[in-house]
Amino acid sequence: MSETKYNPVTPEIAGELRAIVGEKYVVFDDPERLEPYSHDEIPDPHYAHMPEALVRPRTAEEISAIVKLANRRMIPITPRGAGSGLSGGAVPIRGGIVLLVDRMNEILDVDRDNMMVVVEPGVVTSEINDAVEEFGLFYAGYPMSLETCYIGGNVAENAGGGKAIKYGVTGRYVLGLEVVTPAGEIIEMGGKLVKDVTGYNLAQLMVGSEGTLGIFTKITLKLLPAPRASVDLLCLFETARDAISAVPRLMTEGGVIPTTIEFMDRPSVQAACEYLNETIPYAQAGAMLLITVDGSDVEQVEREYESVGEQCLANGAIEVYVADNSTTSERIWKVRRNIAEAFGIISPQQCNEDLVVPPASIADLVAGMEKLAEKHGVAIPSYGHAGDGNLHTRIIKDPDWSMERWNDTWPGVLKELFELTASLGGRCSGEHGIGHKRKKYMPMFVSEGYLDVLRAIKRAMDPNNILNPGKVFDL
Ligand code: LAC
Ligand code: ZN
Repeated sequence: MSETKYNPVTPEIAGELRAIVGEKYVVFDDPERLEPYSHDEIPDPHYAHMPEALVRPRTAEEISAIVKLANRRMIPITPRGAGSGLSGGAVPIRGGIVLLVDRMNEILDVDRDNMMVVVEPGVVTSEINDAVEEFGLFYAGYPMSLETCYIGGNVAENAGGGKAIKYGVTGRYVLGLEVVTPAGEIIEMGGKLVKDVTGYNLAQLMVGSEGTLGIFTKITLKLLPAPRASVDLLCLFETARDAISAVPRLMTEGGVIPTTIEFMDRPSVQAACEYLNETIPYAQAGAMLLITVDGSDVEQVEREYESVGEQCLANGAIEVYVADNSTTSERIWKVRRNIAEAFGIISPQQCNEDLVVPPASIADLVAGMEKLAEKHGVAIPSYGHAGDGNLHTRIIKDPDWSMERWNDTWPGVLKELFELTASLGGRCSGEHGIGHKRKKYMPMFVSEGYLDVLRAIKRAMDPNNILNPGKVFDL
């Protein structure tokens, strides 16, 4: 396979970048200031790569000029949001320019009548809800990193998160995009329209394209009326298998679709508690389901959470607690939201995955993981969005193992974990994306024919392979 040949960023090209965005907003020839843009939140340095230049544009026109320059000079561009990704999507693995959208951080239009909001890509996701709250509206996209991630990155990765069972993932809310194409043209896709079949659904092609097909400069999102009531249930189970087996039944037998069904096994809860120096009640349970029910009035929510609680008890829960005040809820959610970071710090030698299977197969996935852990003598804790069939599973290095033993072991375990996932009709990523981390595993999950269509789209839109090369698949 022949790789695209790129040119280095020279002082002259850095000068051209400065002429486009201004002196202050280009970093070049300064390894210390470029280093933070060489990685995302994958702790393993193996996935990192230094950029040659960082550029921080303010407008679509500036981005267009940068992309045209990159095409003329054959220099790769890697678009970047908050860098909170977990697949290396924002890592410039072919060097070149990292294009950071942090300065494009305005909420441009809260359109109450249409129940839509237009934002720039560098807006922190949680700020959208802060801005629309006073109108009784909310944005239902909800990645766990919502307090730090950018909406642009959410769209690029089609971020999922904790509310997807009821509300779906980011893409459901993306109605329109203004995009700088890989050729440097500024075009609009979709708009403030609930229905629109005027040509191909290009906006949705951009969703989840991981920075390989365009750079978003404006994003139009659908809003919903904010729920007026919400309750969290903490349901304790003796074992991970008990908890996970209850999940599909909660939905099929209970007649209620909760907002959230999050699963956490004991090692995951303990890692986050240790990291946060927090104690939550019952951290010693074998596994927990954290279930949220929300709705338009308190009575409805009460009825629904009682039904969900009964289903949990009928399906093996040893205890169900209602966290009906915001302090308790927030403490438990904080533990849940910090599991990924906790594991990253407690055990940097790990392989953090994002498996997804059809929801009814999730218990088979957990049973298979337990067998794998036993067979190889490694810990494989997991937690995640059980109601979506989406688990964040980690293979963790035993502290007593040498690095050599670890490096000899984990790739084989991962391969078997993926084989198990594929055999259940699953995929290697439900929400974190492929990036360069999972690229080589794609053929285990999709056909060559499928990959050929992806390649054809990429070649048609980006003939010079300028935007985020080396991601998702090889050309
Ligand atoms: C979570 C992120 C890592 O669910 O996706 O915590
Ligand atoms: Zn997640």
